[in-house]
Amino acid sequence: MNSKIIISADVEELASRFARILKDDVNNSADFFNLVLSGGSTPGVVFDFLSNNCKTEIEWNKIRFFWGDERCVPPDHPDSNYLIAYKHLFSKIVIPEKNIFRIEGENKPELEAQRYSRIILQNVPLVNNFPLFDLIMLGLGEDGHTASIFPDNLELINKENICEVTEHPISRQKRITLTGKVINNSRKVIFLITGNSKNKIVDTIINRKSGFDKLPASYINPINGELIWLLDKESGKGLSLASK
Ligand code: 6PG
Repeated sequence: MNSKIIISADVEELASRFARILKDDVNNSADFFNLVLSGGSTPGVVFDFLSNNCKTEIEWNKIRFFWGDERCVPPDHPDSNYLIAYKHLFSKIVIPEKNIFRIEGENKPELEAQRYSRIILQNVPLVNNFPLFDLIMLGLGEDGHTASIFPDNLELINKENICEVTEHPISRQKRITLTGKVINNSRKVIFLITGNSKNKIVDTIINRKSGFDKLPASYINPINGELIWLLDKESGKGLSLASK
């Protein structure tokens, strides 16, 4: 597995490391750069860093923005992953509307999963019969979920569909998520994980400790791509720094 672990002093340094990777990959890309954004709260800090420090350093017009998952809510709902990106990035950096491919959480979930799968097929090249994204950002839940693939729906890792409808195991909130096969078809997957509350689950997954096999994030392993764990010193406490 082509993976590495990078531990930063704090979330600001983690964000700057992500920005450097994104800048190098986008600016060296010959064509459009198909980027998948993650959801939750962590990306907001990263998007702030990008909009405050990389307005001119990154060739933003080359990036096509997609999402790894979305809550089935309207784009102005506080739970919306799109809203986080809008508030912290799109409202601060001019991005051509045509390059933003939002999951329309306000639609009927089953229809939206089909619609978004079609949008991806129309705009992202296929390799190994799956869309090939250039970079996928992922977060990690304390229960080991990633995107919206939760432990009680582990089969979403190997589903043949590009997108599936799922729901949060506690709130039962409906979600649209990319499936594991699409994620593992990417050129590069970066987990962005901060905070002491994630340390145990990170350790369990990276060091294949007891129960790791029941956790969706344990199955993220790009078949022909690179996996990078961007951690801060709290989430990465006590981990080996060796590249695996
Ligand atoms: C979502 C996600 C989810 C998130 C993790 C981590 O829509 O919630 O995409 O996978 O990335 O739950 O979230 P935090 O960054 O808020 O800890």
